[in-house]
Amino acid sequence: MFGTMIASIMQTPPETHELQGQIDALEERLKQMQKLAAIGELTSTATHEFNNVLTTIINYAKLGLRNKDESNRTKAFDKILTAANRAAKITNTILAAAKNRKKEFEPTNFIGLVSDSLLLLEKELNKYRITLEKSFPEVLPEIMADGNQIQQVILNLLINARQAMPGGGKLHLKISYDEENEMVDLLVRDYGCGIPPEKLPHIFDRFYSTKSGPDESGKGGTGLGLASCKTIIEEHKGKIRVESTPGKGTAFTIKLPTVVRAKLLEENS
Ligand SMILES: Nc1ncnc2c1ncn2[C@@H]1O[C@H](COP(=O)(O)OP(=O)(O)OP(=O)(O)O)[C@@H](O)[C@H]1O
Ligand SMILES: [Mg+2]
Repeated sequence: MFGTMIASIMQTPPETHELQGQIDALEERLKQMQKLAAIGELTSTATHEFNNVLTTIINYAKLGLRNKDESNRTKAFDKILTAANRAAKITNTILAAAKNRKKEFEPTNFIGLVSDSLLLLEKELNKYRITLEKSFPEVLPEIMADGNQIQQVILNLLINARQAMPGGGKLHLKISYDEENEMVDLLVRDYGCGIPPEKLPHIFDRFYSTKSGPDESGKGGTGLGLASCKTIIEEHKGKIRVESTPGKGTAFTIKLPTVVRAKLLEENS
């Protein structure tokens, strides 16, 4: 055994080992930075949404003060209560993300994760006149996941879809259970600009972007969104696929292992 090891070391020049070591260290640093960027993006999305909620609360409080009649005041209080409940949910999401900085895979309710992500983007999607079409199953097995990271993937895909439809449009989200492979699938289909075939092979590359910079909501243009989606999905032993027709739209599918499959994979590794 020693003989083989020495032989293989002798075949590789020492500079190559050193370079490989440096590449590994840089890859590791990049991963850490992507994780921090993910928390940063989640925080900025949430802050933006939180401000929207505050605007609603302030406007309805003013309305309630101006209109002394019972029905208008009740309406104002109702709206304030709904908005405040949403604000509480948003801060909880951020607190959970901040607490859970290390990688933690645990049985996770995927429909809950997708719904939380939609909650964060609800106002933004409304603003850009995106109509959501959801088809979620009644029951779904839990996936083995780091919830924060998967939420980051979902947010990236939704934001890209929204940006592909600057004049508004339909966004179709479908969750399903692939029983045969013990995987849970999420389809994110937009009816936006689509991706030309020559660009498609590059979209998962780090820093590849066709956007001129962040849009007015401060999102897009870094070219790290899909690269981190790919890293995260691969770390979860899942799959990410894309199909696109220019001028018609794009469909991303992510597949994630259920708890059952994750256990099987672990046993066989
Ligand atoms: N749903 C989509 N429809 C059309 N093009 C898309 C879609 N999703 C991604 N793309 C293309 O893939 C490129 C890379 O996407 P990615 O999310 O990695 O970067 P980005 O959105 O430009 O910037 P950011 O890192 O800030 O998200 C985009 O610039 C765009 O050209
Ligand atoms: Mg993006």
